[in-house]
Amino acid sequence: MSIVLAKRLKAIKPSPTLSLNAKAKALAAKGADVVSFAAGEPDFDTPKHIKDAAIAALNAGFTKYVATGGIPELKNAIVKKLKTENKLEYTPEQILVSDGAKHSLYNLFQALLSPGDEVVIFAPYWVSYPDMVQLADGKPVFVETSEAEGYAPDPRELRKALSPKTRAVIFNSPSNPTGAVLPRAALEKVAEVLKGHDCLIVTDDIYERLLYVPGPFENLANVEPSLTPRTVVVNGFSKAFSMTGWRLGYAAGPKELIGAMQMIQDQSTSNASSFSQKGAVAALEGPTTDLDAMLTEFKARRDLMVSGLNAIAGVRCRLPEGAFYVFPNIGELIGRSYKGKPIKGSVHMSEILLEDFLLAAVPGEPFGAEGHLRFSFATSRAVIEKGLKRLAEFVASLS
Ligand SMILES: Cc1ncc(COP(=O)(O)O)c(C=O)c1O
Repeated sequence: MSIVLAKRLKAIKPSPTLSLNAKAKALAAKGADVVSFAAGEPDFDTPKHIKDAAIAALNAGFTKYVATGGIPELKNAIVKKLKTENKLEYTPEQILVSDGAKHSLYNLFQALLSPGDEVVIFAPYWVSYPDMVQLADGKPVFVETSEAEGYAPDPRELRKALSPKTRAVIFNSPSNPTGAVLPRAALEKVAEVLKGHDCLIVTDDIYERLLYVPGPFENLANVEPSLTPRTVVVNGFSKAFSMTGWRLGYAAGPKELIGAMQMIQDQSTSNASSFSQKGAVAALEGPTTDLDAMLTEFKARRDLMVSGLNAIAGVRCRLPEGAFYVFPNIGELIGRSYKGKPIKGSVHMSEILLEDFLLAAVPGEPFGAEGHLRFSFATSRAVIEKGLKRLAEFVASLS
């Protein structure tokens, strides 16, 4: 029998970040000394008090199914966190705990979109947004933002992209891949446009704690409270608490939408891991010492990486205000020759870097930003220095 796959798969591409990571890991497993700037996760261990809480839950037999939407203790801790840290008021019925922020977004688009509905996505974007929208039969509508403007959306371009079919606009600040943080003035301009257009606002705040500029972190609902009733906050534990493998994220938003998302989760994955949720309670309520130390280290690595990149002729790198990514502009190197053949683009460059220089870097093209590479600095300073040396050797070999 030949397997006929669903038509909706035609629009979906494999995640380039996950596949590059897999390729780098396969080379390393064969003994190659690969330096990876591809990681989308902190390299630190999960803080001990969080692990202890999950271990205690396991030992106490907290290993059964729990409520699909999340254990009450965690939902209450999320409500409290949103109120005290983000100045946003939600009730526990407005919260849905899922298997990571990625899962929250997936549920959201499945619950929101009908065929042909549009979702506005600012480019450069996290690679999964367009695919998740398309998996829900929606249509991504891209709005370009520029490096020169710090990747702040141009309100006129946003206005042009909105249509009666627009069901949602996604924001991600601090951003993956650029590390850019949208300042209040930029959010205010965007809010002015969105006040006049009845659509959902999705704010993916997963990197909110990884901020290298003075806080507090602010999202669109903070600068324009009238938008709160139609805003969905998506967040999770992966990046802030170094809990990527625990698979825990959440969405907070309008009750009807959260209810619909929960119904999808009821019929698909049910509850997120019970003992992970106990760990997450400890994450939200415990000390921040480990997180503060992590942030200080990330900032030092960012500075090391950016100054190292800017010292390489042909590479220009903006100083990111958040997250753990830099997004160097390598446009000047495209078209130059490597071993007598022109470099065709960021995907081609990333292949050469991995195969010939054992340096894993994610190409900008799948993030909607050709002419860039994404480097993660969620790795040690020694590895950063080694990787930069390899990049410099590659650039020096070009003619
Ligand atoms: C912008 C953005 N949103 C969401 C996620 C998903 O995080 P998780 O599913 O681990 O909570 C990621 C992970 O890379 C991300 O970069």
